Amino acid sequence: SRIWAVMPAAGQGSRFGGDCPKQYLPLAGKAIIERSIAAILRCPDLAGLVVALGPADSRFAALTCASDPRVHTVTGGDDRARSVENALDYLSASADPDDWVLVHDAARPCLSWSELEALLSAGGSSSEGALLALPVVDTLKRVDSDGRVVATVERDQLWRAQTPQYFPLFKLRDALRHCRLAGEQVTDEASAMQAVGARPRVVAGSHRNIKITHPEDLALAEGFLRELQQQVQQ
Ligand code: CTP
Ligand code: MG
Repeated sequence: SRIWAVMPAAGQGSRFGGDCPKQYLPLAGKAIIERSIAAILRCPDLAGLVVALGPADSRFAALTCASDPRVHTVTGGDDRARSVENALDYLSASADPDDWVLVHDAARPCLSWSELEALLSAGGSSSEGALLALPVVDTLKRVDSDGRVVATVERDQLWRAQTPQYFPLFKLRDALRHCRLAGEQVTDEASAMQAVGARPRVVAGSHRNIKITHPEDLALAEGFLRELQQQVQQ
């Protein structure tokens, strides 16, 4: 079986703001998406990576990684799930029934090899797949529309889902299609797999693997990249 990768990169970055979608902003001298792609291309023997782009994207083609023979593009959809589904449909022509796929956000440039390696080894042990995630550390409150606390939510069993997420390719494609046809909104691949009865495994990720969401995340990510580079040099 082979491993493929899909990168949803068709978002507008509305929470981040500005004219340029956040995945194309420079981070320590390279576009954020280039760093996210480079992190996934570390996967040994990766069969190919499909990037889902916005319909009017004019930025991707100018990047160095666009000419990598492993990198392909499709047009994304109105939400993240549809962008991933479009990329999986594209791959379904070349993939085999026992192939797997890594799905990684274009907006997560600080993924390190040690986390990816941990995910790949954990994922292979069960056909229900796996995802990187972090245990919740804060106390969680459920709050009503007036801004008043209704309840404290037990955090013991709560994790924050990250990417990459790693699943059998055709199972994931079928699960996303099922959710779309059922009108079920999913914000990550694990949710789609759960909706068809799978119980993906969580693999402890890193606090550095943030999703760039707001402008203040850029400085954080720059610091994390510097720390990662120092680790590699030591
Ligand atoms: N994404 C996508 N297709 C969409 C929406 C999002 O491929 N229709 C991608 C984004 O480009 C990003 C990833 O999904 O790499 C995670 O989404 P998010 O962080 O929410 O990015 P945006 O949707 O761009 O940001 P916002 O929600 O603030 O608009
Ligand atoms: Mg979004």
